[in-house]
Order: sequence, then structure tokens, then C-alpha cells
Amino acid sequence: MTTNDQLFERARQVIPGGVNSPVRAFRAVGGTPRFIARAQGAYMWDAEGTQYIDYIGSWGPMILGHGHPAVLEAVQKAAVEGFSFGAPTEREVELAEEIIRHVPSIEQVRLVSSGTEAGMSAIRLARGATGRSKIIKFEGCYHGHADALLVKAGSGLATFGHPTSAGVPAEVVQHTLVLEYNNVEQIEEAFKTHGPEIACVMIEPIAGNMNFVRAAVPFVKRIRELCDQHGALFIFDEVMTGFRVAPGSAQSLYAAAIPGFRPDISVFGKVIGGGMPLAAFASSRRIMAHLAPLGGVYQAGTLSGNPVATACGLATLREISRPGFFDALGAKTRALVDGLKGAADAAGVPFCVDSQGGMFGFFLMPELPQNYTTVMTTDQPRFNRFFHGMLDRGIYLAPALYEAGFVSAAHTDADIAATVAAAAEVFRTL
Ligand SMILES: Cc1ncc(COP(=O)(O)O)c(C=O)c1O
Repeated sequence: MTTNDQLFERARQVIPGGVNSPVRAFRAVGGTPRFIARAQGAYMWDAEGTQYIDYIGSWGPMILGHGHPAVLEAVQKAAVEGFSFGAPTEREVELAEEIIRHVPSIEQVRLVSSGTEAGMSAIRLARGATGRSKIIKFEGCYHGHADALLVKAGSGLATFGHPTSAGVPAEVVQHTLVLEYNNVEQIEEAFKTHGPEIACVMIEPIAGNMNFVRAAVPFVKRIRELCDQHGALFIFDEVMTGFRVAPGSAQSLYAAAIPGFRPDISVFGKVIGGGMPLAAFASSRRIMAHLAPLGGVYQAGTLSGNPVATACGLATLREISRPGFFDALGAKTRALVDGLKGAADAAGVPFCVDSQGGMFGFFLMPELPQNYTTVMTTDQPRFNRFFHGMLDRGIYLAPALYEAGFVSAAHTDADIAATVAAAAEVFRTL
């Protein structure tokens, strides 16, 4: 048998850090990443044959669990018909129609291959449509690794940011303003200073890249008003929340709380591909008309709308559209977080939780944080002990405290109970 250690050592010879996406390397929590050999339903098995209950779900896409029969069948059929044609297919139209059917704010969809590509293209579209350069994002929100988005806040309010990655020239981020999440005063100030130059405001409506932090309803409402007053576009990055927190995605939750609310551009990924490389950005017909071949904003992709990926995404969306799907998933996720909270309380560990649909977060602190600075006050060594305690008991949580967790339709009550029982043991050791 090849061990995880041996595979990691071999991987590090030929792949930088041994991984193809940094968080997989377990740097935040220490230890050896598990090399996954296969997965089925709610479980994954590593190279050593150890079984885990999976709460990552490929970081969001696997909402049905692994190897759902209807999805497998659709993918196998599509693979036989052809991997890629570089020409339009009916399935792309069907997938666009299926996405639009659930999300009233959008009339047209452009399919791409990753959330990064979708986010980057959405910003280009917003800039092209408004003829403006400046963009606003929020600290702790991740929208993919496009140059202009790898930015941390400037030294003062309404100053432009600094690159967070080597290889990103300061000039490339000079138009990116980074503000505090849930801070109404800051965004008002930013619009007061730069209003006529702002092309768009981009947000994760429930930020899953600082664990799980909701944008407060008054905050979202105020951004909508400011965008309308100043002619800027409001972009909802629903790569993580799209078709994960509700059938109509996170925007449906804000539309229920703010009459008439809709974002101008939406970005999707993860669930709409069901685990295959597929993402999308979408908007009204008027805004999407700026895209090539209709308009002057260029955007393209050899594998965009790939026939196998669209088959996977379409089969996934059809399954989650079944009546009662989100009620059941939401109840399951709540049972998990309530169980974890109960176990933490019993052990006297400060702990708070939140969840929506099949997405959840927990913090080793007494109250839910509202922004990135507070999230980062979490006791990191304590989180790491919790993570490893759970992993040793066969529970695979995200290997970093700033990541959300995901429950799938395949998780059973017994899986949830086993997870809570493991947590009760681990909390007593923290
Ligand atoms: C909210 C959000 N936007 C964009 C991305 C980037 O997507 P991808 O990793 O598919 O490039 C992610 C990835 O986790 C994400 O969570």
C-alpha cells in the first residue's frame, strides 16, 4: 500500500507544494494531506483505505454527494457522444435555461470553465458596460485568482489596495478598492469620493471564504441604493452560494428581505457543474449584449460549455430542483450545526454556528463575526487541534478556519450523529 506520506513526498517532487490548489496542502493546520482514492455518497477513502465523512464536497459542488446515479448516467452518456466539439450544443442551451428558470434577475448566461474565469469576465463586462475602471470588493471575500482581485485593503479608508500576491503589479490593482464587509459607512464614503468612476461592487452575499459570514440585509440594501444612485453595477458572486443555499441562490434570500432586490450580474460555479469544470456569469439581456460576438467586451474559451461538464451540471440541477430538496438539505445541515453547538456547550468551549441550505460555518468564539478582522481573531491552534481530532475520527472538515463546510443530500442522520459524537469527544480535549 502507498501511504499518504509517500504520495505527498512524491507529489512534492513534481508539483509545487505537492498540490494543484494551495489549501489542499494542509499548511494552515499542519500534517499530511490525505490523497483521495475514491468517493461515494457522503464518504471519501484515502490512499490508505481510511474512510471519511466528507464535509468539503469538493469545496461545494457535490451537493448530491459523490457518484449520484442520475449524474453518473448523464456523464457516461455524454462522454460516449463526444468530449468536446468547439461548436454549440443543445445541452448548453438547456443548462442556461435551467439556471435562468431559478434566478429571476438573469436573462442570459455565458458558460465558462472556472469560478475565477467567471468572476474575471463579470468584472470585464461591468467595466465594458459602464465605461468605468474602478471596482469595489470586500476584505475576506474571494472571487478567484484574477490579478485585479488579489488585493488587500489600502492603508486608509477609500485608498486603493496593495497586491496580496507576488507577480501582480501595483498598477494592475490601482483601480481596486477593498472595504470592510458589513461596513455601511465605508461604502458610503467610497461612493462619495469615487462615485462617478466606480464600475461595480462585487460581493460574496454569504462569504464562504472567511468561513461563513452573512452580508447584513441593510448593508446589501445600501449597496444596491448606492449602485443605482451612481450608475455602478452590483455583482453577486454566487460561485459558492449559487444553488447551494437555496434553489434561487443567495439572491433569493435578499430578494425576500428587500422588496424588488436583484443584483445586476451574477457569478456561478461549483454546483452548476456538479463537480466538473464549469462556471458561468449571467445578467440581463441588455448588459450581456456588451459581450462578444454582440458587443465590444471580449471573452472566449475552448472548453466553455463543455458537453460532458454541461451534462453533469444539468443532471445535478435537475435533481436539486425536486420539490422539498432544499428543505431536507437545510434541515440536515441545521441538525449538524445544532449538534456541534450542543456538544461544544456541554464541553464549555466557546462556539457559534450558522448555516443556510447545504452550507455551514462554525467559529471557536462566542458570537458570529461580521467581518474578516474578527474571523481572524479565532484561536488558530485550537481550531487546528479540533480539525485533527475530527480527522483522526474519520470526519473530513475544511483544513483551514476561514473555509465554509458543506453537507450533501447523501449525508444520513447516522453520519450527522457520528460527526456530533466525534466532536463531543474532541471538544473535551481542546
Ligand atoms: C465565491 C467564490 N468565487 C470564486 C471562486 C473561484 O472559483 P474557482 O476555484 O472555480 O476558480 C471561488 C472558489 O472557491 C469562490 O468561493
